[in-house]
Amino acid sequence: MPDLSIVLSKEDIAKTVQLLAKRISSEYQHRELVVVGVLKGAFVFLSDLIRQITLPIQIDFIGVASYGAGDFSSETIRLTKDLEINIKEKDVLIVEDIVDTGITLSWLIAYFKSLGPKTVRVCALLDKHERRKCDIQIDYVGHVIDKGFIVGYGLDFAEEYRNLPEIFQLKS
Ligand code: IMP
Ligand code: MG
Repeated sequence: MPDLSIVLSKEDIAKTVQLLAKRISSEYQHRELVVVGVLKGAFVFLSDLIRQITLPIQIDFIGVASYGAGDFSSETIRLTKDLEINIKEKDVLIVEDIVDTGITLSWLIAYFKSLGPKTVRVCALLDKHERRKCDIQIDYVGHVIDKGFIVGYGLDFAEEYRNLPEIFQLKS
């Protein structure tokens, strides 16, 4: 069994999700909000977040692959699933599990902007600074993490651990 140390408990996560949803709900009143989850990692966070947003919203998913089977980052982004909702003139909120180098997010922001939305903003549960390569603005941040590889609550290592209800650091 690999060594896992807890970073955020269920209670920590619930509090963070509630705070983020409250801010989003107050800042997107009378707008046409499309919440887009980045597959696969963000699906657990997104499902909790949207149930605390008190506005009419639309939900879609986009799939990108940036990591191989391990924890190394690849600078090539591949679209594995495109949007189904037309985001032209809409307010788009990208929901990410974790921002690491920022390469995925800067690719996604450029892609979304090419589709003519009114606004594009980002909500990330975790903001990991250690390996940041792209200067990107994250509008809604859950927690800042210095370093380490994080699993659980949707985040994986080689497709494992996504189902853990808390967030852990994987010790190697
Ligand atoms: P970036 O392009 O380097 O910012 O990486 C973005 C994606 O890599 C995230 O959406 C995650 O899916 C994955 N990732 C980055 N760091 C971690 C981590 O610590 N644990 C699990 N997945 C990670
Ligand atoms: Mg991800």
